[in-house]
Amino acid sequence: MGSSSFLIVANRLPVDRVDDSAWRRSPGGLVTAFAPLMRRREGGWLGWAGSADEKIDPFDHDGMHLVPVPLSAEDIELYYEGFSNSTLWPLYHDVIAPPVYDRTFWEAYRRVNERFAEAAAEAAAPGAVVWIQDYQLQLVPALLRALRPDLRIGFFLHIPFPPSELFHQLPWRKEIVKGLLGADLVGFQRPGAASNFKRLCRRLVGYGFQGNAIFAGERTVRVQSFPISVDFGELDELVRRPEVVARAKRIREELGDPGKILLGVDRLDYTKGIGQRLGAFGELLAEGSIEPGDAVLVQIATPSREQVEQYRLLRDDIELQVGRINGEHGLLGAQPVRYMHSSYGREELAALYLAADVMVVTPLRDGMNLVAKEYVACRRDLRGALVLSEFAGAADELRQAFLVNPYDIDGMKNVLLAAMHAEPGDLMRRMRAMRRRVSLHDVDRWATGFLSALEGA
Ligand code: ADP
Ligand code: G6P
Repeated sequence: MGSSSFLIVANRLPVDRVDDSAWRRSPGGLVTAFAPLMRRREGGWLGWAGSADEKIDPFDHDGMHLVPVPLSAEDIELYYEGFSNSTLWPLYHDVIAPPVYDRTFWEAYRRVNERFAEAAAEAAAPGAVVWIQDYQLQLVPALLRALRPDLRIGFFLHIPFPPSELFHQLPWRKEIVKGLLGADLVGFQRPGAASNFKRLCRRLVGYGFQGNAIFAGERTVRVQSFPISVDFGELDELVRRPEVVARAKRIREELGDPGKILLGVDRLDYTKGIGQRLGAFGELLAEGSIEPGDAVLVQIATPSREQVEQYRLLRDDIELQVGRINGEHGLLGAQPVRYMHSSYGREELAALYLAADVMVVTPLRDGMNLVAKEYVACRRDLRGALVLSEFAGAADELRQAFLVNPYDIDGMKNVLLAAMHAEPGDLMRRMRAMRRRVSLHDVDRWATGFLSALEGA
């Protein structure tokens, strides 16, 4: 038995390696959400360090005790790229890409989930609170409970939980449901996902439910939605810094001081609707609703899951599309789309948010989408328009955004124009309301809400 009385278990550790001995906090929704909480509670975090076949001893970083779980090259291929990102990810995101059902992927998923459960059983102190994260580890709750019935176990799914008709495609659907039911509390982003899950439990394993409680034999499992959020205070502070404000100004200059700057910030993922966004922008240029020089679309696309075929195909598609738009509508000194395939630090990201007149967030399906909330948190000047897909979890809360159906290209064109031409007073009213929401419902409230439900479960 270990000494951590509070333990996060996630596929990834919240750090990236800089060199042999140095690490830095990594970008990404999960990490951004937890870092502040972990520092305050001095908790342990168990996860993969991101490299193949490497055994790394536990170490401390930034107030967190980190316990690396090793993955072999084969585990990475079959468990991470395979079952997690070629089976579950597309299945849980409306089958936007066809999920691959492969038995060797499943075997690896089971094997790696067992390894995580064993490592968690070793690291957790008696009676500890263990909080398991996301779709890569859905079997861990039950596996860990079997090893350590003394623990209080929570699970949170950061991505959407699919409608039952889609979930039924999965050959291992019963195993997944039973895995999740090992937790005392199962959390989802949206209330609809929690309802789907409760109905599935009844259908697949015959457990009844009432309100938030599923009756799982001797035990009761609580199921509830907890919409995740961002560290509002940190971002609000960041954009007060003179160097960030100055950088935002310089970004505008570097872009040639266009009339409007539109911005997209996403992992390069087929769920994010980057192609649809570019398509709408390209058509606006083609029909003359936007003149080159009037507007620039900055698209920052973080490299992601590059060994998975769908992601490689997506990158080619997006880069072709960007090339075409710039080829057709660019001027010698002005390209309408500025595309960057890279990751940025928090300060640069905040400066970009501050420089952007229109933030374009158009996923075809997204559990939450933290980028939308980050933009709101950064706009203390109450300027800037948020264009937001109805299919992002964030749309439940950010009702004052310019909501859009990303499958409807004409609709998206109209909404982009409306956002670009909105009156300052209208933008202020919308932004004020959205900021109120995000500042009250920040990541701290999310985590505290989940943990107090877990501790009281
Ligand atoms: P997802 O979790 O699917 O990647 P989210 O929008 O919920 O989508 O979270 C993405 C997180 O990653 C945000 O915190 C965002 O700031 C960060 N991020 C996205 N793109 C970049 C980038 N190019 N550089 C740095 N951070 C990024
Ligand atoms: C989403 C998932 C996370 C994942 C992140 C980055 O936010 O919900 O679980 O860590 O994307 O993806 P990656 O595959 O690089 O870990």
